[in-house]
Amino acid sequence: MKVDTAIVLGSGLGSLANEVCVEKSIGFAEAGLPVSHVAGHVGRFFLGQFASIPLWVMQGRVHLYEGHSAQAATAGVRWLAEQGVTRIILTNAAGTLHPEYLPGRWMMLSDHLNLTGTSPLEGGPNFFDMSEVYSAEWRDLMRKKANELGMPLHEGVYAGLRGPQYETPAEIRMLRAIGADAVGMSTVLEAIQAKALGMEVLGFSCLTNWAAGMSSDELNHREVLETGKLAAVQMLSLLAAALPQDG
Ligand code: HPA
Repeated sequence: MKVDTAIVLGSGLGSLANEVCVEKSIGFAEAGLPVSHVAGHVGRFFLGQFASIPLWVMQGRVHLYEGHSAQAATAGVRWLAEQGVTRIILTNAAGTLHPEYLPGRWMMLSDHLNLTGTSPLEGGPNFFDMSEVYSAEWRDLMRKKANELGMPLHEGVYAGLRGPQYETPAEIRMLRAIGADAVGMSTVLEAIQAKALGMEVLGFSCLTNWAAGMSSDELNHREVLETGKLAAVQMLSLLAAALPQDG
């Protein structure tokens, strides 16, 4: 089975993995990756089929906020490249900064702001072109399929921060001023690494909550996980409609 597409599942989106008919399961430790200890991040690769689509699934990821380096946080992407993956879909849970992008909806990444202060390409003269990280062609297809399904799909800029604490209202106002629509603590380094390896990249944020200061609610990780679970159902339909089936 030739499997060239992978999906990385973010917080609360692990239920996507339940829909995959698993042929092979490889734990992060077995693959030589650091193991995450955050609730909602299991830490394994699956090879299998989802709605007749052959797929690699990376369930869980390694975050900077756990004390890992940019290299460690992107080891999964390099491992997938070694398995022959050339197309990668990065998903995450994010806070929404856009007044019209409601929690519970998905936002496809048109671009990102890497505000982590680091890069997986550090250490070499990697003056890499980043003018189109998230494939315009692949995004066109997703937009069209979401439209056909009647699924609301926003598009915007994701700001990737180190965390682990959520942002202050002042930080959120700053992020809005510099053009962010959503904020989270992952994805940007993986996107840089995937792009540098020549992969076609797509990113989706599950908007789990209003960013700090945009509602009177306090942020909590459990709520992020629960909203992610509900929205995962929509993403399953979109992927089933948009990814090529086997044979
Ligand atoms: N901020 C940062 N990361 C997040 C958020 C948020 O509001 N929601 C989910 N991940």
